[in-house]
Amino acid sequence: MPQAQDPFADFSDKQLFSEDFARKEDANDPLSKLRNEFIIPTKGDLKHPGYGPAPTSGSADRNDTAQSDDAEEAIYFCGNSLGLQPKRTREYIHKYLDTWSSKGVFGHFKELENGHPPWLNMDDAMKDQTSKLVGALPEEVVVMETLTANLHFLMASFYKPTATRYKIIIEGKAFPSDHYAALSQLAHHNLPPDALVTITPPNPDSPYLSDEHILSVISQHAASTALVLLPGIQFYSGQYFDIKLITHHCHLNDITIGWDLAHAVGNVPVKLHEWNVDFAAWCNYKYMNGGPGVIGGLFVHERHGKVESSKAANGDDQLNYRPRLSGWWGGDKGSRFRMENQFVPIPGASGFQVSNPSALDLTAVKASLDIFALTDIDSLRARSLRLTRYLERLLLSWPADTRPYRLLTPSNPDERGAQISVLLNPGLLDSVQANIESNGVVVDERKPDVLRVAPAPLYNSFWDIYRFYKIFKSACEQALASSKKS
Ligand SMILES: Cc1ncc(COP(=O)(O)O)c(C=O)c1O
Repeated sequence: MPQAQDPFADFSDKQLFSEDFARKEDANDPLSKLRNEFIIPTKGDLKHPGYGPAPTSGSADRNDTAQSDDAEEAIYFCGNSLGLQPKRTREYIHKYLDTWSSKGVFGHFKELENGHPPWLNMDDAMKDQTSKLVGALPEEVVVMETLTANLHFLMASFYKPTATRYKIIIEGKAFPSDHYAALSQLAHHNLPPDALVTITPPNPDSPYLSDEHILSVISQHAASTALVLLPGIQFYSGQYFDIKLITHHCHLNDITIGWDLAHAVGNVPVKLHEWNVDFAAWCNYKYMNGGPGVIGGLFVHERHGKVESSKAANGDDQLNYRPRLSGWWGGDKGSRFRMENQFVPIPGASGFQVSNPSALDLTAVKASLDIFALTDIDSLRARSLRLTRYLERLLLSWPADTRPYRLLTPSNPDERGAQISVLLNPGLLDSVQANIESNGVVVDERKPDVLRVAPAPLYNSFWDIYRFYKIFKSACEQALASSKKS
């Protein structure tokens, strides 16, 4: 893959690791203001045992320094797990609650002067914004159900094993839920577990999967494969796969391909329509900031979502559409409430809906989409490339011969999103994690040795990264010192 230019090539490590540099970067980037759209927890909020913001007045025995430290914003690099809460989420949810309490069932249908569509139309109202984030036509996307459930719904429609073509290819370190989903699809079709082919990294010391390796495994099994299911961005290593190239290769081999975009949506720009992806699914609680376990989303390419009528051999009218697991919410809105038991799917992704969606969830996702609408995903990506490179440069400023960690994420910016996965030397993780956490740093740990650090471009800052590295470096030094003593 070609490599994007290093924006900090002209700066020394010393220049970069300075308060002044981080502050200036933030001041010069117009997107820095989007941070104000979010509630950034303080260090005190994270520590205090109750829920909600920490009380502002400290107890009498605490000194001023401890109190001002508690008031400092935490360094939250965990948007790859759960995004922070947008300020407007509370406001939107209050409107939803007020609508429900004052209008009851009419909230489904009534246009209100609250700036939000009736619940019945909320799914449509989110299509434009969602489609822009994943490079799709509005009718190719829908906000529905949750990620693993959507993968199942999509596989029920797209995984059509035959006697000769029946294998599913995933990657060896797939997120466990995807692994279970694929295995259970095989079982559902009475196929043995060894029909699941896993692409494992050739080098046991590195999770990296080169394009050549991925394509060669697919080619090797092409004649017997029905489906490839891959992540856009690998959750553990942060590697961003070449969706366009791999999709094209699958299609050349007559294989259907679906993408799990949990770590890609809201993080990197993808072009699902243009790249001819068959289907994709994602969650809205990571970089999408919709809240824990909130409703997910899916994409079905235009060519798979068609609903056409024709004449059957006996002259009757018949509808032709891709078979799927259906529910009433996938049915045409005009006839949905007629209760006639004749399923007429909505053309496009909406026709894959099953149940009536949680308006509470849709409301929360809408709050986040309205923040994304203040910019565009390409501008966010440009900011993200700088943030992540800055983080990488600081992490690599520790001389290699004594550095107690290595970076698992590809160094090529085009092969990663916001996340950098740091593999610590054995035995350091618990101490480093406890130390940085007590200093207000939130990152995700994957035992035994990995920290996943993800500066989200919507709300993280260069200043966050500067402060993070200072705390992280000191935590590593302390962990090394105490490991030498023991
Ligand atoms: C890559 C990936 N796939 C699947 C899932 C499972 O998502 P859900 O629990 O929403 O089904 C996750 C959750 O974090 C994930 O990161």
